Amino acid sequence: MTATRLRDIEVAYDERGRGEAIILLHGFPFNRSMWRQQIEALSSNNRVIAPDLRGHGETGVVGSAATMEEMAKDVCALMDRLDIEQARICGLSMGGYVALVFVRLYPRRVNALVLADTRPQADGTDARVNREKMAEQALRQGMSSIADAMLPKLLTRRTLDSKPEVVNRVREMITGNKPEGAAAALRGMAARRDQSDLLPKIEVPTLIIVGREDAVTPVADAEFMHRAIRNSRLEVIEEAGHVSNIERGAEFNRALSDFISTVAG
Ligand code: MLT
Repeated sequence: MTATRLRDIEVAYDERGRGEAIILLHGFPFNRSMWRQQIEALSSNNRVIAPDLRGHGETGVVGSAATMEEMAKDVCALMDRLDIEQARICGLSMGGYVALVFVRLYPRRVNALVLADTRPQADGTDARVNREKMAEQALRQGMSSIADAMLPKLLTRRTLDSKPEVVNRVREMITGNKPEGAAAALRGMAARRDQSDLLPKIEVPTLIIVGREDAVTPVADAEFMHRAIRNSRLEVIEEAGHVSNIERGAEFNRALSDFISTVAG
């Protein structure tokens, strides 16, 4: 792990391998360790960088909201710090929200995009209200109560019933976050804008991945993005829910590696 002061916070990140840069942006409320299997697989041929996003893991947070714009600006500042002009940007769920903002703000800094288990739409009114309730729950009752509420939606029934090591890994990521950081990210997600109008303007090769059983950002969201992004391909991973890169690491890595090999150079 390395930590560096960027903008107004300390940002923790992992960096491994040499070659073309690929930046992995985790979901909510996880941390960079969610990419363990992907870092392992990709770093033999690529320079892989996985930061803890603002408010998560070992990265700091300032104020009561961590917006997707702030997170995207942190990623750009990290690229500047590491002398990376262009990168493949891969985001899962909230990481995908950040990736879309990044493309809007810095289109020239992206040479390929991976949008996993995510969606371009903003929250509706009910979802915004629920985010604020969850932010207050995190602050009052702590991250274990957030893990209890979220786990059934993140993983498939099969994983919940038969893979305690996966359930524990996801639970530990969630409970390792600070309530203030989670609350700030929830408020940031609630405030995010609809990115649907950006999709037809995306020109870089794009891979869209989704777990067949994703209950948070379902296959229909992935299909919508696939239809709207001209130069995109869609991979649906069977027997995976929302955290498809953990539940089906080998299949996720295969899709990612195949895609990266087509955009090499
Ligand atoms: C995530 O995995 O990042 C979150 O479930 C996204 C969300 O709550 O919208």
